[in-house]
Amino acid sequence: MKKTPVISDVKGYWELEANRIPWFEPWNSVLEWNEPFAKWFAGGTLNASYACLDVHMGTERENKVAIHWEGEDGETIPFTYAQLYHEVNRFASALKKNGMRKSDRVVLYLPMIPQALIAMLACARLGAIHSVVFSAFGSSALADRIRDAKARFVITADFGKRQGKLIPIKNVVDIALEGDVFVEHVFVIKRTNESIVLHEKRDLLFQNILEAADDYVAPEPVDATHPLFILYTSGTTGKPKGIVHSTGGYLTYINSVFNKAFNPQEDSVYWCTADVGWITGHSFVTYAPLMNGTTSVVYEGGPTYPTIDRWWQLIEKYKISIFYTSPTALRMFMRHGTETIKKHDLSSLRVLGSVGEVINPEVWSWYHEHIGGGRCPIIDTWWQTETGGFMLSPSAQNLVDLKPGSATFALPGIDVDIVDAYGISVPANTKGYLVIKQPWPGMLIGVYGDPERYRQVYWSKFSGMYYPGDFAIKDDDGYFWLLGRSDEALNVAGHLLGTAEIESAAVAAFSVAEAAVVGVPDDIKGQAVVLFVTLRKGVEPDGETKREIVASIRHLMGPIAKPRDIYFVDSLPKTRSGKIMRRILKAIACGEEIGDVSTLENEASVEEVRQVHVAMKKSF
Ligand code: WT7
Repeated sequence: MKKTPVISDVKGYWELEANRIPWFEPWNSVLEWNEPFAKWFAGGTLNASYACLDVHMGTERENKVAIHWEGEDGETIPFTYAQLYHEVNRFASALKKNGMRKSDRVVLYLPMIPQALIAMLACARLGAIHSVVFSAFGSSALADRIRDAKARFVITADFGKRQGKLIPIKNVVDIALEGDVFVEHVFVIKRTNESIVLHEKRDLLFQNILEAADDYVAPEPVDATHPLFILYTSGTTGKPKGIVHSTGGYLTYINSVFNKAFNPQEDSVYWCTADVGWITGHSFVTYAPLMNGTTSVVYEGGPTYPTIDRWWQLIEKYKISIFYTSPTALRMFMRHGTETIKKHDLSSLRVLGSVGEVINPEVWSWYHEHIGGGRCPIIDTWWQTETGGFMLSPSAQNLVDLKPGSATFALPGIDVDIVDAYGISVPANTKGYLVIKQPWPGMLIGVYGDPERYRQVYWSKFSGMYYPGDFAIKDDDGYFWLLGRSDEALNVAGHLLGTAEIESAAVAAFSVAEAAVVGVPDDIKGQAVVLFVTLRKGVEPDGETKREIVASIRHLMGPIAKPRDIYFVDSLPKTRSGKIMRRILKAIACGEEIGDVSTLENEASVEEVRQVHVAMKKSF
């Protein structure tokens, strides 16, 4: 059986990988490790905008399309590498002339328009530190992030477009900045002809200041350890953490794993459906594909507008060969059936990726068959905002035998293990905590302004190991299987059960589109399994369906995982990045306070789940 090769000289390996990106000055040392603080390639200087754009100038990539941008309403704008280079230089010049300097923090609150990528690259060109805030977050989430990052500037747009509606995002910025004294300028990109209120002195219309911009700004050389960006992550609970990524280690890492995992070719057309507001949008929409000279599609909208086949239209239109999306989106498509998919020619696809949550074996097989036509490997990438890039993933360059639902092995140079509560490695087929045992170049360099929190969250649970907070198991062949977040795992009569394993067993029942499991206190077993499910279109939420689900769970997991209660709902509460918020379901199932829901995508689902829960309780 083929396995990922083991790298014996890990530092030497990363040094080779670092040499694949352009540096101005070489580094003094590959790694200075003062646990838990790492300095990769310290002393080396580079610039992210240079690595993404300037390197391609004067080569045949100059006139290659970097980005095919497509708007929700079908508007298209192609940018060649030369055009993108020109736009980024002018954008950076305008920012510089208005006071932006190296190390300034700049909050970007932008919809998926080309300027979102251009603004990131322009900040990077000046050595300024961007912090992108997802444009569907509300004013208080935005205000928290602007304040925590001590931002000097905000870059936004007048409006965003979502599902055909105009979203007044500049207005959200105004509310977020009420009483703020730190932000000097808000740069406003006009996306529409609608009028907006401008605050004198503070707000600058970008189109106006661009008129005085130069065509070239020298890229600011920064140290490898200089922060490229801050990105806030809240996980599913708690105050958001400003995850800080370096320039040299981060770029080295994402360039390396992008090539390993997806194996892009010169003529590949790549599409990652993530928003720039997430780490996936940083690493694998913006920086890695551009460093690599890849042609990407960037789409403004979501999967269902104006029609449910919008994404398949785009794959057909641009002849996309590498497609990267989330299990949440796939489960939504599964729920709607394959009729509309069959109408499109998806034969250009070569590699399919997945990220964000466990891809249940059922969903994996559906993706493989109905989207990939049975020909494309599924590259299931396990990683986090904090890891910068993929950690566990098959490599399309050197493909191992795939197992539906497994992220296979650690990528070369990455040391991942599963340990028990004492930090001791567990044998095959034993569930435990996923840990990373060696620093890697893409790792976060800290939590902004809070080194103690960085140490405490990631490096204090097990001595000398990075703790990602995931529960997992390795099988006899060494394949990793993610089982869900470790703080959500259940203990039923002494058996540890991951949320994902029970959910996958539920999704294996044909009727089920999506499932979420929570553990609730139980007098006899300690915890009991409570299951919330959404059904495929046309399936009746009746006793027969319940029996089918129970049978599937019994068959795949044994009687221990049999749910005590099953609730049928129309939608599950999710974060805006598509992760199911089990914390909320658990609070409802236990009759507790729900707490903070500001990162929730679909607040209506909470009320619906609550009502279903109450109605069912009454009927017993
Ligand atoms: C958490 C990180 C990584 C970019 C998007 C999410 C879960 C992520 C997988 C996967 C199983 C996965 C983990 C992880 N997760 N990818 N392929 N299989 N679980 O970034 O918001 O930082 O979330 O998402 O629980 O810890 P994030």
